Amino acid sequence: MEVLRAESNSLAATRALAAALAEVLRPGDAICLEGDLGAGKTAFVAGLVAALGSDAEVTSPTFTLENRYRVEGRDFDLFLHCDLYRPGEDARRDLLPSMLEARDEGAVLAVEWAAPVEEFLRPLLRLKIEVVDERQRRFGLEPVPAGWPAFADLAREWEKIRGGSA
Ligand SMILES: Nc1ncnc2c1ncn2[C@@H]1O[C@H](COP(=O)(O)OP(=O)(O)O)[C@@H](O)[C@H]1O
Ligand SMILES: [Mg+2]
Repeated sequence: MEVLRAESNSLAATRALAAALAEVLRPGDAICLEGDLGAGKTAFVAGLVAALGSDAEVTSPTFTLENRYRVEGRDFDLFLHCDLYRPGEDARRDLLPSMLEARDEGAVLAVEWAAPVEEFLRPLLRLKIEVVDERQRRFGLEPVPAGWPAFADLAREWEKIRGGSA
């Protein structure tokens, strides 16, 4: 199985990993974030949003279902951040159509707690975040299905961050 791994020992390192991923994102890419509450899913998304040129504050869209951010200087204009922790069973009906429509128009999606809709979002990048201790996080990024074109480029960048910040 093709999985890209990295570790982070700070919020700054997590944001650097996210910024490196943001560099290689293409229109229509979808990232499903997995990990316990407090693992750093929203923190990672905040790093993506900042790297995509928005200075908006990123908060969890737990109550609003989805937040949309304008993207600057890329070949996609829109970034969608969704959190299905609360929508639960209704997520497919309530949120999926607008997510898929935005994606069809080239938006990039990042979805926390995506399990109820994951099968409809393929191809996707599955980012698993594991809590090691208070500050240490372990990341695993798996393209589903395998074969994401930017895999090797991102692997090189994540390797540099590991070398620089660990
Ligand atoms: N290495 C790290 N990477 C990301 N967040 C970290 C790290 N170390 C500590 N944290 C803290 O963990 C919390 C992550 O919260 P959040 O991103 O909202 O989690 P989630 O969205 O997964 O529930 C934040 O309070 C953040 O400051
Ligand atoms: Mg969150």
